[in-house]
Amino acid sequence: MQLERLLHAQGFGSRKDCRALIRAGYVSVAGEVCDDPTEEFDPGSRDGSPGLEFTVDDQPWRFRAQAYVVLHKPAGYECSQKPTFHPSVFTLLPPQLLARGVQCVGRLDQDTTGLLLLSDDGQFIHQWSSGKKRTPKVYEVTLKHAVEQDFADRLVAGVELNDEPVPIAAAACELLSPTTLRLTICEGKYHQVKRMVGAAGNRVEVLHRSRVGGLDLPAGLAPGQWRWLEAEDLARLADYADATS
Ligand code: URA
Repeated sequence: MQLERLLHAQGFGSRKDCRALIRAGYVSVAGEVCDDPTEEFDPGSRDGSPGLEFTVDDQPWRFRAQAYVVLHKPAGYECSQKPTFHPSVFTLLPPQLLARGVQCVGRLDQDTTGLLLLSDDGQFIHQWSSGKKRTPKVYEVTLKHAVEQDFADRLVAGVELNDEPVPIAAAACELLSPTTLRLTICEGKYHQVKRMVGAAGNRVEVLHRSRVGGLDLPAGLAPGQWRWLEAEDLARLADYADATS
């Protein structure tokens, strides 16, 4: 692939912008400045091989045929591209990811924190946001009122939600303290956790998503930070046979 096309595919601007960056000597491959926009490189990545490593203005990058990232969503951010009352989570991402058109995989409420996946792979977004796949999603829930085990049991038995024809049941619910639960749900209904807790007679004070499928929010990823998902993370995401046990 020509270097100019390669940079364009990675979100570094129009073909013209990328050509200018290369000609001005900002781009290096394997430690060598390459100022020829037409020079051919094997980008790798599509067949599972590590993508080509390069730097742009001394910033290291790796070619990725598709973008898969995890963001530690902070409170006070909306998942919408056109937010109403709060800044968008997209303001937390670099321009290269925005140029690639990454989208959220499902949504978290503005006051919910934790694991949010984003990608520019339409099939991946559909697959992981569709309720049909029944992906377990784990939430740490802080309640307004103290409860006992029977409250967790009620959520697992199923609660009636407005507009839902059948009761909705948690896949698992662990009482961590009188006011904290670890709740696993396999659907992705609007405000599902808050509505389930409300239907059981309580109120969510704090909500944090700690796991999707078999993927945990990476330790050390601070609120507001993002990182690429590597092949092993994607494998972990799909490996959730025992995630609800
Ligand atoms: N359930 C909710 O109520 N809110 C979220 O953000 C996610 C799940």
